[in-house]
Amino acid sequence: MAISLESLHSSFACNVTGVDLARPLADGVFAEIDAAFKRHAVLVFPGQELTDEQQITFSQNFGPLEEAPNYAGKALRLRNEFTDISNLDSEGRLLDPEDRLTKYNLGNQMWHTDSSFKAIRSKCSLLSAREVTQVGGETQYADLRAAYDALPDVRKKELSGLLAEHSIAHSRSKSGFDGFNSEIATMLPPVPQRIVDFYPASGRTSLFLASHASHVIGRPVDEGRALLEELVEFATQERFVYTHRWSVGDLVVWDNRCTMHRGRPYDLTQRRVLHRTTVSDVETPFHKEPAPVPAGQSV
Ligand code: OGA
Ligand code: MN
Repeated sequence: MAISLESLHSSFACNVTGVDLARPLADGVFAEIDAAFKRHAVLVFPGQELTDEQQITFSQNFGPLEEAPNYAGKALRLRNEFTDISNLDSEGRLLDPEDRLTKYNLGNQMWHTDSSFKAIRSKCSLLSAREVTQVGGETQYADLRAAYDALPDVRKKELSGLLAEHSIAHSRSKSGFDGFNSEIATMLPPVPQRIVDFYPASGRTSLFLASHASHVIGRPVDEGRALLEELVEFATQERFVYTHRWSVGDLVVWDNRCTMHRGRPYDLTQRRVLHRTTVSDVETPFHKEPAPVPAGQSV
């Protein structure tokens, strides 16, 4: 075993040391990382000061990268393999807290999983800390496999086969951002996603929840929304949550299919700069199936 693992939480999340991600990986090392990823869902690699190029090269081991569309319709600081998790403008200066890009970014403080609103959702995200704040700005992760396991059997039965509709316009309207251009709405129409699924690679069943989930398909909107809210509240109890306090050089990889995450508030006059690459989930294409809408129901 080349890498060393140290547990960060009783059910998921590990610290990984013994590997330099800036260099080409020796034979067999990625297989060890992948096995740890399948088992623990969140991997923290401290002390990895990566360039954007090195981050892309390591990320591609997990699969093809998404390109980040320009959701907020403003000039971007990073090349389009990256999602900019920072409070900087395209010139690298602190954003005005009133800027619409700041408002857009605040949506990341709601519990979510990345790209659940896309027809091809995301397998995992990799977030590299370049500048961090002294206070606040942690990222929290919730273990949706442990949360599923802890549900009462009757609830598990009820959820089996249910689909939720996910859309980015929905989640951003919740955080007070209404600046979507119609091109994004057309490019990213709402998609159905199963609320529960089984993953053969880990042998685990998981909830799949996010701020992007708007309602349950085939149920009255209010009822479905209440169910989703109740599940998010259940799954984000302290016992299912790992809180990551960032140091410069941390790279955190998380499985978007069986965890949720959220950023915690911080003083927006302090620079906080993290660069994210996002890997597409080309392995489990079930979510592409059209949602079966029961006869006589509309949502
Ligand atoms: C992300 C994300 C929140 C934060 O990187 O995808 O939602 O501010 N981050 O840490
Ligand atoms: Mn995110």
